[in-house]
Amino acid sequence: MSSKVPPIILNNGVEMPQLGFGVWQVPDDEAEQAVAAALEAGYRSIDTAAIYGNETGTGKAVAASGVPREDVFVTTKVWNSDHGYDSTLRAFDTSLERLGLEYVDLYLIHWPTPARGTYVDTYKAFEKLLADERVRAIGVSNFLPEHLERLIEETSVVPAVNQIELHPHLQQHASREFHAEHGIATEAWSPLGSGKGLLEVPAIVAIAQKHGRTPAQVVLRWHLQLGNVVIPKSVTPARIKENIEVFDFSLDDEDLAAISALNEDRRLGPDPAEFNAA
Ligand SMILES: NC(=O)c1ccc[n+]([C@@H]2O[C@H](COP(=O)([O-])OP(=O)(O)OC[C@H]3O[C@@H](n4cnc5c(N)ncnc54)[C@H](OP(=O)(O)O)[C@@H]3O)[C@@H](O)[C@H]2O)c1
Repeated sequence: MSSKVPPIILNNGVEMPQLGFGVWQVPDDEAEQAVAAALEAGYRSIDTAAIYGNETGTGKAVAASGVPREDVFVTTKVWNSDHGYDSTLRAFDTSLERLGLEYVDLYLIHWPTPARGTYVDTYKAFEKLLADERVRAIGVSNFLPEHLERLIEETSVVPAVNQIELHPHLQQHASREFHAEHGIATEAWSPLGSGKGLLEVPAIVAIAQKHGRTPAQVVLRWHLQLGNVVIPKSVTPARIKENIEVFDFSLDDEDLAAISALNEDRRLGPDPAEFNAA
């Protein structure tokens, strides 16, 4: 099945599907089945990470899918304890081996872990991987504008993507503005609020009823119309299909305003300024 998802163009010209499939908290032996279902449903972008422990299952599903490698956009991430120039290069080799791939499409620094003071060296290893054509694009995750400013000052490749927690309860205006000014794509993690109550919020339920859609589809549509890249996760086949059926309707200005009014600047995950876990 061909993809239903339009691409966005990253700052180095590489195309990335605007909607992909996230696999956080999916055990390795279930990841193969979930990623296979996603590829079958038309997803062409998969978001994994070394720390998720499911690069192997993800890679197996990509290999078995029959979808040409160049038609699948694979993202993985270097974990905090592998920061540093040499250890990042080693961690990349290990990820690639687990994925069973020759290259990844997007490699991200998972967290800045500012107390380590190593994200600049880590990113310099990313620049080498990019120059060596082992990755098609490089970026970061959970970086605050102050971390991005330092990277931009001290390295030569502006990150293509910053993947951050973003959903109607945490709309990240300052980061989105900074990204837009610097040509960095905003990728939303936990786009559905991690399934923790957001989809029952009355304003979202009402918009869903108005369009004859589900609350999850309304939230994903809101992200897409804002210009975010989204990577909803599900291990439920019906939801995997539902979450990609979002390109045949639009929210109007009133809907968008009602969702924008839900911002509470409330994080589900850790504060990147303080998260330094190994
Ligand atoms: N960079 C980072 O630090 C970071 C952090 C967190 C996440 N991420 C990435 O972002 C991806 C998505 O985030 P996430 O997994 O936290 O949360 P999410 O995609 O916002 O939500 C996933 C939860 O919502 C449920 N769900 C999915 N589709 C649904 C639907 N149509 N209707 C009702 N419930 C639905 C899922 O349940 P079932 O699976 O049971 O169907 C699951 O419990 C991750 O998988 C990962 O790739 C990155």
